[in-house]
Amino acid sequence: MSILNIDVYPALVLKRKTEKILNIDDHIRQLAEDMLETMYQAPGVGLAAPQIGHSISLVVADPGEKDKPSPLILINPEITAHEGQTGITEGCLSVPGYTAEVVRHQKIIVKAYTLDEKEVELTLEDFPAIVLQHELDHLHGILFIDRISRLKRNIYDRKLKKGTLDQS
Ligand code: NI
Repeated sequence: MSILNIDVYPALVLKRKTEKILNIDDHIRQLAEDMLETMYQAPGVGLAAPQIGHSISLVVADPGEKDKPSPLILINPEITAHEGQTGITEGCLSVPGYTAEVVRHQKIIVKAYTLDEKEVELTLEDFPAIVLQHELDHLHGILFIDRISRLKRNIYDRKLKKGTLDQS
């Protein structure tokens, strides 16, 4: 396993819509394992393939309790249903030094494939639902800063340019 380099905004790969994975091979399995290790080490609760420079539909996440690791690896995930509204302050490993509140669905159903090519359907609410929506956005070239108000986004872009973002 190895720790991968995380691309940060405005890297172009983060803006690209990803390709579906047609073949779950050893390369994908290795990438998923490395992404999990990279995510835990960061530390983060989710990581999408574009963040480590691969424009493919793969995310890893662990939105559960800290002392109880329950890693999720999802291939070609899609939200098939949603309801309600919620929002918390979000950050992103690819947007260092900035956080903002984002409006999300409170409950979602996600269909995806696992590494052993099984189709799964997950029903998620609240924090895990928010994490998965954030990660699935990455697969469509969308960052959480694309979902905040124009005013907040302008302030962010100005701070980025001036190099005055909090370094965390
Ligand atoms: Ni992110």
